[in-house]
Amino acid sequence: MSADPRRNHVAAGLPPLSVALRPEPDPSLDRLTGHLGGARIWAKREDCNSGLAYGGNKTRKLEYLVPDILEQGADTLVSIGGYQSNHTRQVAALAARLGLKAVLVQERWVDWPDPLNDRVGNIMLSRIMGAEVRLDPSGFGIGVKGSWEQALEDVRARGGTPYGIPAGASDHRLGGLGFANWAFEVQQQERELGVFFDTVVVCAVTGSTQAGMIAGFALQDRPRRVIGIDASAEVDATRAQVARIARGTAELIGLGRELTDDEITVLEGWAGDRYGIPVHSTLDAIGLSGRLEGMIIDPVYEGKSMAGLVDLVTSGEIPRGSNVLYAHLGGQPALNAYSALFTA
Ligand SMILES: Cc1ncc(COP(=O)(O)O)c(C=O)c1O
Repeated sequence: MSADPRRNHVAAGLPPLSVALRPEPDPSLDRLTGHLGGARIWAKREDCNSGLAYGGNKTRKLEYLVPDILEQGADTLVSIGGYQSNHTRQVAALAARLGLKAVLVQERWVDWPDPLNDRVGNIMLSRIMGAEVRLDPSGFGIGVKGSWEQALEDVRARGGTPYGIPAGASDHRLGGLGFANWAFEVQQQERELGVFFDTVVVCAVTGSTQAGMIAGFALQDRPRRVIGIDASAEVDATRAQVARIARGTAELIGLGRELTDDEITVLEGWAGDRYGIPVHSTLDAIGLSGRLEGMIIDPVYEGKSMAGLVDLVTSGEIPRGSNVLYAHLGGQPALNAYSALFTA
């Protein structure tokens, strides 16, 4: 079995279909590195990875579902997330690009007082792209939801062929493959840059981003730390999901051994009390990235993972001599629902 999961798809007789643009912008974050005064910081930019509706980490995951979607003859993608889900926006974009319909269950994952929370940002983009958006009052949860099963059933009842994509494209057999391949892209970039990223910092919520990375890097010769930063304030559930998906993905890409528990690191401490509600450290991290690097990050995900990186670097927990790769997973459209945080 090839180390490149995309080739495995092709070997299995499934057509490749790329919806992403690569390579990405200059990865070095020199001003942030200088400011923190510790390890050298770099970024791999999923926020710039595609021309499909602003891209983001789901574009890379969804790319690996495309052969399966086409093979099953689906005419409607059915998915779920919060009102400001980046994932459902990327599902809407993929559906548009493939000429399919999209039904999106958008739940009230965040009790956030912005009156335009269900109108601007990601949800607006999904509507522009022609998705059927169903608002649902249910709260945060990454498991299988009845509203999603109902949406699948409704598509069937009207004679359609739905393809179900769970929250974050994570709890799906193929959900980890995109970021397993990311690990090989990183290796290629390291050769070009003449650097080794001994530590990767990545936001974790539905889990398959970090899980895919862990599985992909495990196939490589040189060990490194992949530090997940929980952004949902439900670290045990996040860790369990990352572990399960990492093991499933490792098997799919032919790792040939069981991943050990110490290969799965998900840290808590930067999520605040709840998913979707930023805390001081989130806002500080957003300000630092913007002012020092012109790099925009959001208050739900990347602001929290960047806050984790800042603390781990300044405390020396990530040592001075390290090269740290920050996985920027996108998510900026949600900023539109948080304008009250940035009035000064
Ligand atoms: C911008 C952004 N960052 C991070 C994440 C977390 O990735 P995952 O759900 O794969 O853990 C998500 C999605 O949940 C996201 O949209």
